[in-house]
Amino acid sequence: MDTALKDRVVLVTGASTGIGAATARAYGQEGARVAITYRNNPEKAEKVASEIEAAGGQALVVRLDLEDLPTVEEAANTVIESWGGIDVLVANAVRWGGDGPPDPSVRFEHVSLDEWQAMISANLIGAAAQVRAVLPSMRSRGWGRIVLISSSVAEEGLPGPGPYGTAKSGLYGLARSLAWEAGRDGILVNVVAPGFTLTHSRPPIPKIITDKLASGTPTRRLSDADDVAKLVLFLGSGANGNLTGEIVRDGSSAARAPHVGP
Ligand SMILES: NC(=O)c1ccc[n+]([C@@H]2O[C@H](COP(=O)([O-])OP(=O)(O)OC[C@H]3O[C@@H](n4cnc5c(N)ncnc54)[C@H](OP(=O)(O)O)[C@@H]3O)[C@@H](O)[C@H]2O)c1
Repeated sequence: MDTALKDRVVLVTGASTGIGAATARAYGQEGARVAITYRNNPEKAEKVASEIEAAGGQALVVRLDLEDLPTVEEAANTVIESWGGIDVLVANAVRWGGDGPPDPSVRFEHVSLDEWQAMISANLIGAAAQVRAVLPSMRSRGWGRIVLISSSVAEEGLPGPGPYGTAKSGLYGLARSLAWEAGRDGILVNVVAPGFTLTHSRPPIPKIITDKLASGTPTRRLSDADDVAKLVLFLGSGANGNLTGEIVRDGSSAARAPHVGP
Protein backbone atom coordinates (compact mmCIF):
# COMPACT_ATOMS: atom_id res chain seq x y z
CA MET A 1 0.00 0.00 0.00
CA ASP A 2 1.45 3.37 -1.03
CA THR A 3 0.78 5.89 1.71
CA ALA A 4 2.42 8.69 -0.34
CA LEU A 5 3.76 10.20 2.87
CA LYS A 6 7.42 10.58 1.94
CA ASP A 7 8.51 14.08 3.02
CA ARG A 8 4.93 15.06 3.87
CA VAL A 9 4.69 17.20 7.00
CA VAL A 10 2.59 15.60 9.72
CA LEU A 11 1.54 17.23 12.99
CA VAL A 12 0.59 14.74 15.70
CA THR A 13 -0.57 16.49 18.85
CA GLY A 14 -0.16 14.83 22.22
CA ALA A 15 2.56 12.55 20.89
CA SER A 16 4.81 12.28 23.92
CA THR A 17 3.06 9.08 25.04
CA GLY A 18 0.40 6.52 24.17
CA ILE A 19 -1.51 6.49 20.91
CA GLY A 20 0.05 9.76 19.75
CA ALA A 21 3.59 8.46 20.22
CA ALA A 22 2.78 5.25 18.33
CA THR A 23 1.17 7.28 15.56
CA ALA A 24 4.17 9.61 15.29
CA ARG A 25 6.51 6.60 14.99
CA ALA A 26 4.26 5.07 12.32
CA TYR A 27 4.39 8.25 10.23
CA GLY A 28 8.16 8.41 10.71
CA GLN A 29 8.48 4.90 9.30
CA GLU A 30 6.69 6.08 6.16
CA GLY A 31 9.31 8.78 5.57
CA ALA A 32 7.20 11.71 6.73
CA ARG A 33 8.53 14.71 8.62
CA VAL A 34 6.78 14.43 11.95
CA ALA A 35 6.09 17.27 14.39
CA ILE A 36 5.09 16.02 17.81
CA THR A 37 3.63 18.01 20.65
CA TYR A 38 3.79 17.56 24.40
CA ARG A 39 2.46 19.46 27.34
CA ASN A 40 4.18 18.37 30.57
CA ASN A 41 6.70 15.79 29.39
CA PRO A 42 9.25 17.23 26.95
CA GLU A 43 11.70 14.42 27.71
CA LYS A 44 9.17 11.80 26.58
CA ALA A 45 8.52 13.78 23.39
CA GLU A 46 12.27 14.04 22.77
CA LYS A 47 12.54 10.26 23.19
CA VAL A 48 9.85 9.71 20.53
CA ALA A 49 11.65 12.18 18.26
CA SER A 50 14.94 10.31 18.78
CA GLU A 51 13.27 7.03 17.85
CA ILE A 52 11.91 8.59 14.64
CA GLU A 53 15.32 10.00 13.78
CA ALA A 54 17.09 6.73 14.60
CA ALA A 55 14.80 5.05 12.08
CA GLY A 56 15.90 7.57 9.42
CA GLY A 57 13.06 10.06 9.74
CA GLN A 58 12.84 13.73 10.71
CA ALA A 59 11.15 14.98 13.86
CA LEU A 60 10.38 18.28 15.49
CA VAL A 61 9.25 18.70 19.11
CA VAL A 62 6.88 21.56 19.97
CA ARG A 63 4.89 22.43 23.09
CA LEU A 64 1.11 22.74 22.78
CA ASP A 65 -1.32 23.19 25.67
CA LEU A 66 -5.03 22.73 25.07
CA GLU A 67 -5.68 24.76 28.20
CA ASP A 68 -3.86 27.72 26.64
CA LEU A 69 -5.42 27.89 23.16
CA PRO A 70 -3.05 30.46 21.62
CA THR A 71 -0.30 27.84 21.94
CA VAL A 72 -2.18 25.73 19.38
CA GLU A 73 -1.68 28.24 16.59
CA GLU A 74 1.84 29.02 17.81
CA ALA A 75 2.77 25.34 17.62
CA ALA A 76 1.34 24.99 14.10
CA ASN A 77 3.15 28.16 12.99
CA THR A 78 6.44 26.81 14.34
CA VAL A 79 5.99 23.71 12.18
CA ILE A 80 5.01 25.75 9.13
CA GLU A 81 8.02 28.06 9.56
CA SER A 82 10.35 25.07 9.96
CA TRP A 83 9.06 22.87 7.18
CA GLY A 84 7.05 25.16 4.89
CA GLY A 85 3.56 23.83 5.60
CA ILE A 86 1.48 21.07 7.12
CA ASP A 87 -0.06 18.23 5.10
CA VAL A 88 -1.55 16.02 7.81
CA LEU A 89 -3.03 16.79 11.22
CA VAL A 90 -3.70 14.13 13.81
CA ALA A 91 -5.61 15.90 16.58
CA ASN A 92 -4.85 13.45 19.35
CA ALA A 93 -3.91 15.55 22.41
CA VAL A 94 -6.34 15.24 25.26
CA ARG A 95 -7.09 16.97 28.50
CA TRP A 96 -8.14 14.10 30.72
CA GLY A 97 -9.08 16.37 33.61
CA GLY A 98 -7.25 14.16 36.08
CA ASP A 99 -4.44 11.64 36.04
CA GLY A 100 -5.95 9.61 33.20
CA PRO A 101 -9.24 8.53 31.69
CA PRO A 102 -12.44 9.71 33.43
CA ASP A 103 -13.33 8.11 36.74
CA PRO A 104 -16.65 6.29 36.28
CA SER A 105 -17.37 6.55 40.00
CA VAL A 106 -17.83 10.33 39.86
CA ARG A 107 -21.46 11.44 40.07
CA PHE A 108 -22.69 13.72 37.27
CA GLU A 109 -23.82 16.50 39.62
CA HIS A 110 -20.44 16.57 41.31
CA VAL A 111 -18.74 17.79 38.14
CA SER A 112 -18.55 21.59 38.37
CA LEU A 113 -19.55 23.86 35.50
CA ASP A 114 -15.98 25.16 35.48
CA GLU A 115 -14.83 21.62 34.77
CA TRP A 116 -17.40 21.33 31.97
CA GLN A 117 -16.08 24.52 30.41
CA ALA A 118 -12.49 23.44 30.75
CA MET A 119 -13.18 20.05 29.15
CA ILE A 120 -15.20 21.42 26.23
CA SER A 121 -12.69 24.20 25.69
CA ALA A 122 -9.67 21.90 25.62
CA ASN A 123 -11.05 18.83 23.88
CA LEU A 124 -13.60 20.30 21.47
CA ILE A 125 -12.65 23.93 20.88
CA GLY A 126 -9.03 22.81 21.14
CA ALA A 127 -9.62 20.45 18.20
CA ALA A 128 -11.25 23.27 16.23
CA ALA A 129 -8.23 25.44 17.02
CA GLN A 130 -5.90 22.75 15.67
CA VAL A 131 -7.94 22.52 12.46
CA ARG A 132 -8.06 26.32 12.04
CA ALA A 133 -4.31 26.53 12.46
CA VAL A 134 -3.49 24.00 9.72
CA LEU A 135 -6.26 24.55 7.15
CA PRO A 136 -4.79 27.56 5.29
CA SER A 137 -1.60 25.61 4.66
CA MET A 138 -3.50 22.56 3.44
CA ARG A 139 -5.76 24.64 1.21
CA SER A 140 -2.78 26.36 -0.39
CA ARG A 141 -1.36 22.93 -1.24
CA GLY A 142 -4.69 21.57 -2.47
CA TRP A 143 -4.18 18.46 -0.34
CA GLY A 144 -4.65 17.59 3.29
CA ARG A 145 -5.64 14.85 5.66
CA ILE A 146 -7.13 15.44 9.11
CA VAL A 147 -7.80 12.73 11.67
CA LEU A 148 -9.59 13.68 14.87
CA ILE A 149 -9.18 11.24 17.76
CA SER A 150 -12.45 10.71 19.58
CA SER A 151 -13.45 7.81 21.82
CA SER A 152 -16.01 5.05 21.99
CA VAL A 153 -17.28 6.94 25.05
CA ALA A 154 -18.69 9.53 22.61
CA GLU A 155 -21.31 7.05 21.44
CA GLU A 156 -21.50 4.50 24.21
CA GLY A 157 -21.24 6.80 27.21
CA LEU A 158 -19.67 5.86 30.49
CA PRO A 159 -21.22 5.82 33.94
CA GLY A 160 -20.46 9.02 35.78
CA PRO A 161 -18.65 11.84 34.07
CA GLY A 162 -20.21 13.62 31.10
CA PRO A 163 -17.82 16.30 29.85
CA TYR A 164 -15.21 14.02 28.29
CA GLY A 165 -17.69 12.03 26.18
CA THR A 166 -19.63 15.17 25.31
CA ALA A 167 -16.52 16.90 24.01
CA LYS A 168 -15.50 13.79 22.08
CA SER A 169 -18.94 13.44 20.45
CA GLY A 170 -18.68 17.08 19.34
CA LEU A 171 -15.82 15.99 17.10
CA TYR A 172 -18.32 14.05 14.99
CA GLY A 173 -20.23 17.21 14.06
CA LEU A 174 -16.98 19.03 13.48
CA ALA A 175 -15.74 16.36 11.07
CA ARG A 176 -19.04 16.07 9.20
CA SER A 177 -19.24 19.81 8.54
CA LEU A 178 -15.56 20.21 7.81
CA ALA A 179 -15.63 17.33 5.32
CA TRP A 180 -18.09 19.34 3.19
CA GLU A 181 -16.33 22.65 3.67
CA ALA A 182 -12.77 21.50 2.98
CA GLY A 183 -13.39 18.63 0.57
CA ARG A 184 -13.33 20.88 -2.49
CA ASP A 185 -9.74 21.78 -1.54
CA GLY A 186 -8.59 18.17 -1.49
CA ILE A 187 -8.78 17.87 2.29
CA LEU A 188 -10.23 14.71 3.82
CA VAL A 189 -11.29 14.67 7.46
CA ASN A 190 -12.26 11.67 9.51
CA VAL A 191 -12.70 10.63 13.12
CA VAL A 192 -11.14 7.60 14.76
CA ALA A 193 -12.98 6.36 17.84
CA PRO A 194 -10.72 4.03 19.78
CA GLY A 195 -12.12 1.92 22.53
CA PHE A 196 -10.21 0.86 25.62
CA THR A 197 -6.64 0.86 24.31
CA LEU A 198 -3.62 -0.73 25.95
CA THR A 199 -0.94 1.94 26.28
CA HIS A 200 2.15 2.32 28.42
CA SER A 201 0.83 5.64 29.71
CA ARG A 202 -2.05 4.32 31.78
CA PRO A 203 -1.53 2.64 35.16
CA PRO A 204 -1.39 -1.18 35.05
CA ILE A 205 -4.83 -2.76 34.90
CA PRO A 206 -5.53 -6.18 36.44
CA LYS A 207 -5.67 -8.92 33.82
CA ILE A 208 -9.06 -10.02 35.06
CA ILE A 209 -10.43 -6.65 33.94
CA THR A 210 -8.67 -6.53 30.58
CA ASP A 211 -9.80 -10.12 29.88
CA LYS A 212 -13.38 -9.17 30.70
CA LEU A 213 -13.21 -6.14 28.43
CA ALA A 214 -11.62 -8.15 25.62
CA SER A 215 -14.33 -10.82 25.87
CA GLY A 216 -16.90 -8.26 24.74
CA THR A 217 -15.14 -7.47 21.47
CA PRO A 218 -15.49 -9.25 18.11
CA THR A 219 -11.81 -10.23 18.11
CA ARG A 220 -11.65 -11.09 21.84
CA ARG A 221 -8.70 -8.77 22.25
CA LEU A 222 -8.08 -5.16 23.14
CA SER A 223 -6.27 -2.88 20.74
CA ASP A 224 -2.88 -1.51 21.61
CA ALA A 225 -1.53 1.89 20.60
CA ASP A 226 0.05 0.45 17.42
CA ASP A 227 -3.30 -0.93 16.26
CA VAL A 228 -4.86 2.52 16.50
CA ALA A 229 -1.79 4.13 14.93
CA LYS A 230 -2.10 1.97 11.82
CA LEU A 231 -5.74 2.97 11.41
CA VAL A 232 -4.89 6.65 11.80
CA LEU A 233 -2.00 6.30 9.37
CA PHE A 234 -4.27 4.92 6.65
CA LEU A 235 -6.92 7.62 7.06
CA GLY A 236 -4.30 10.34 7.28
CA SER A 237 -2.33 9.39 4.19
CA GLY A 238 -2.41 9.26 0.43
CA ALA A 239 -3.67 5.68 0.70
CA ASN A 240 -6.97 7.24 1.69
CA GLY A 241 -8.16 8.45 -1.67
CA ASN A 242 -11.67 9.72 -0.98
CA LEU A 243 -12.97 8.64 2.43
CA THR A 244 -14.15 11.68 4.34
CA GLY A 245 -16.61 12.70 7.05
CA GLU A 246 -16.60 9.22 8.55
CA ILE A 247 -16.29 7.85 12.05
CA VAL A 248 -14.15 4.76 12.20
CA ARG A 249 -14.45 2.60 15.30
CA ASP A 250 -11.63 0.25 16.12
CA GLY A 251 -12.13 -3.29 17.42
CA SER A 252 -11.72 -2.28 21.06
CA SER A 253 -14.62 0.12 20.88
CA ALA A 254 -17.04 -2.72 21.56
CA ALA A 255 -15.43 -3.28 24.98
CA ARG A 256 -17.71 -2.05 27.72
CA ALA A 257 -16.01 -0.47 30.70
CA PRO A 258 -17.14 -2.09 33.94
CA HIS A 259 -19.21 0.15 36.17
CA VAL A 260 -17.02 0.73 39.18
CA GLY A 261 -19.05 3.52 40.73
CA PRO A 262 -21.31 3.36 43.75
N1 LIG B 1 -6.13 5.13 25.79
C1 LIG B 1 -7.40 4.81 25.56
O1 LIG B 1 -7.91 3.76 26.00
C2 LIG B 1 -8.25 5.72 24.71
C3 LIG B 1 -9.55 5.30 24.40
C4 LIG B 1 -10.33 6.11 23.60
C5 LIG B 1 -9.86 7.31 23.13
N2 LIG B 1 -8.60 7.69 23.46
C6 LIG B 1 -8.13 8.99 22.93
O2 LIG B 1 -6.88 8.77 22.31
C7 LIG B 1 -6.06 9.92 22.46
C8 LIG B 1 -4.73 9.52 23.10
O3 LIG B 1 -4.99 8.85 24.31
P1 LIG B 1 -3.77 8.17 25.12
O4 LIG B 1 -4.38 7.20 26.05
O5 LIG B 1 -2.75 7.72 24.17
O6 LIG B 1 -3.29 9.44 25.95
P2 LIG B 1 -1.98 9.67 26.85
O7 LIG B 1 -1.00 8.56 26.68
O8 LIG B 1 -2.45 10.04 28.20
O9 LIG B 1 -1.34 10.94 26.13
C9 LIG B 1 -1.96 12.17 26.16
C10 LIG B 1 -1.13 13.14 25.36
O10 LIG B 1 -1.77 14.43 25.41
C11 LIG B 1 -0.87 15.36 26.00
N3 LIG B 1 -1.63 16.25 26.86
C12 LIG B 1 -2.12 16.03 28.10
N4 LIG B 1 -2.78 17.11 28.54
C13 LIG B 1 -2.70 18.02 27.55
C14 LIG B 1 -3.17 19.35 27.40
N5 LIG B 1 -3.89 19.96 28.36
N6 LIG B 1 -2.87 20.01 26.26
C15 LIG B 1 -2.16 19.41 25.27
N7 LIG B 1 -1.68 18.17 25.35
C16 LIG B 1 -1.97 17.48 26.48
C17 LIG B 1 0.15 14.56 26.78
O11 LIG B 1 1.35 15.32 26.85
P3 LIG B 1 2.32 15.29 28.14
O12 LIG B 1 2.40 13.86 28.61
O13 LIG B 1 3.60 15.81 27.60
O14 LIG B 1 1.72 16.21 29.15
C18 LIG B 1 0.28 13.33 25.90
O15 LIG B 1 1.15 13.58 24.84
C19 LIG B 1 -6.86 10.91 23.29
O16 LIG B 1 -7.49 11.84 22.44
C20 LIG B 1 -7.89 10.04 23.99
O17 LIG B 1 -9.06 10.74 24.31
C21 LIG B 1 -7.78 6.94 24.24
